[in-house]
Amino acid sequence: MDKILIKGGKKLKGEVEISGAKNSALPIIASSILSTEECVLTNVPLLKDIQTIKLVLESMGARVRRDGYTFAIDAKDLKSCEAPYELVKTMRASVLVLGPLVARFGEARVSLPGGCAIGTRPVNLHIAGLQKMGAEVEIKHGYVEVRAKRLKGANISFDISTVTGTENIMMAAVLAEGETVIGNAACEPEVVDLANFLIKRGAKIKGAGTDTIIIEGVLRLSGGTYEIMPDRIETGTYLISGAITGGDVTVRRCVPSHIEAVLSKLSVVGVKTEVFSDSIRVVADRGISAVDVRTMPYPGFPTDMQAQIMALMTISNGLSVITETVFENRFIHVPELRRMGAKIKLQENYAVVEGVKSLSGAPVMATDLRASASLVLAGLVAEGQTEVHRVYHLDRGYESMERKLSGLGADIVRVK
Ligand code: EPZ
Repeated sequence: MDKILIKGGKKLKGEVEISGAKNSALPIIASSILSTEECVLTNVPLLKDIQTIKLVLESMGARVRRDGYTFAIDAKDLKSCEAPYELVKTMRASVLVLGPLVARFGEARVSLPGGCAIGTRPVNLHIAGLQKMGAEVEIKHGYVEVRAKRLKGANISFDISTVTGTENIMMAAVLAEGETVIGNAACEPEVVDLANFLIKRGAKIKGAGTDTIIIEGVLRLSGGTYEIMPDRIETGTYLISGAITGGDVTVRRCVPSHIEAVLSKLSVVGVKTEVFSDSIRVVADRGISAVDVRTMPYPGFPTDMQAQIMALMTISNGLSVITETVFENRFIHVPELRRMGAKIKLQENYAVVEGVKSLSGAPVMATDLRASASLVLAGLVAEGQTEVHRVYHLDRGYESMERKLSGLGADIVRVK
């Protein structure tokens, strides 16, 4: 298993380029199931999770060719409608094949994703939505089995905002009979990216990006080409790498409007930011003040940035309360940050972080994708060496993070 060694203390300087958005590429790749024509996707990030969804599609009989950042997917000869446990257990987002499979074939058998480090990750809202559209759903031997002659449009309102739930139902609805209205829909940019690609292929969708999405079913969807939008969470992570090291970092090929909530927190903590059309410069030349953070669905502060801003708050000059409202157990990075000298108290779903003068490098263990990013960020500023173990978690969502950080002047190496 690889590990990453970081010698802290370097102020990061320079430019870093953002890759395509993982959480946009995943549903968009799954949506290729909806048509028999080829889909060609560009700016697809080279990540472990993308490899996983490629394997899921190939296990069903799709042909997926990758050439650098371009994916060509031909789902014409899809033979099976089953996403096997051994693949789904490694990535919950595999559940995104459910909606497209039922829409195209009238059936699907997808392993229940099971829990993961940040929570139980249920899919009850995905299932309830499909049932409202006329699907028969059974849970058997750890699999969700769905059958429907032809899905019918329905009025579906989610009790809680669910990103992949919204995406699954939207994909199911594009080939359903009649109109589907999704209430309390997720407004995340990734939902909009998926909708834009579906519309390009002939789908009739209105309201993506708002909490009410209206889909008029059509008979078929064509293939098409599409460029995946930049990753807003990777953008926020590198902005914080500049802030935490007191550096001067420019993040290129990003969409500033997707990361407003993080930018406003950075300006409150005393970091200077300059926003351009597709890049953001962050300059942190004085101390970091404390700020309270509460994660919320988009456009609120993203839960996927909570661990990263907590790393920044561990070296602030005050007290910060960080409240996690989306997932029930997303503080697994806290014990590891404490081993680096951070002062953090946990209470139900909030953490009280008391800034310290400096962190000290230590061997730490990554547990989930964003928790591992926060350990790397802490290592960049800690005194001495930090060893981050189990970096395969990092590889799930960050394309060659050590290369991008050393490009900014970090003293960081990856060892087998
Ligand atoms: C998406 O997960 C993202 N993943 C997550 O990113 C992100 O943290 C999350 O949205 C929230 O923004 C992808 O897009 C592939 P949810 P998702 O359904 O869709 C509950 C990362 O780091 N819920 O919006 O699985 C759920 O338990 C990953 O890239 C139900 O109760 O999240 C959670 O508490 C981690 N029943 C809340 O809703 C359901 O049927 C929001 O979950 C579905 C969800």
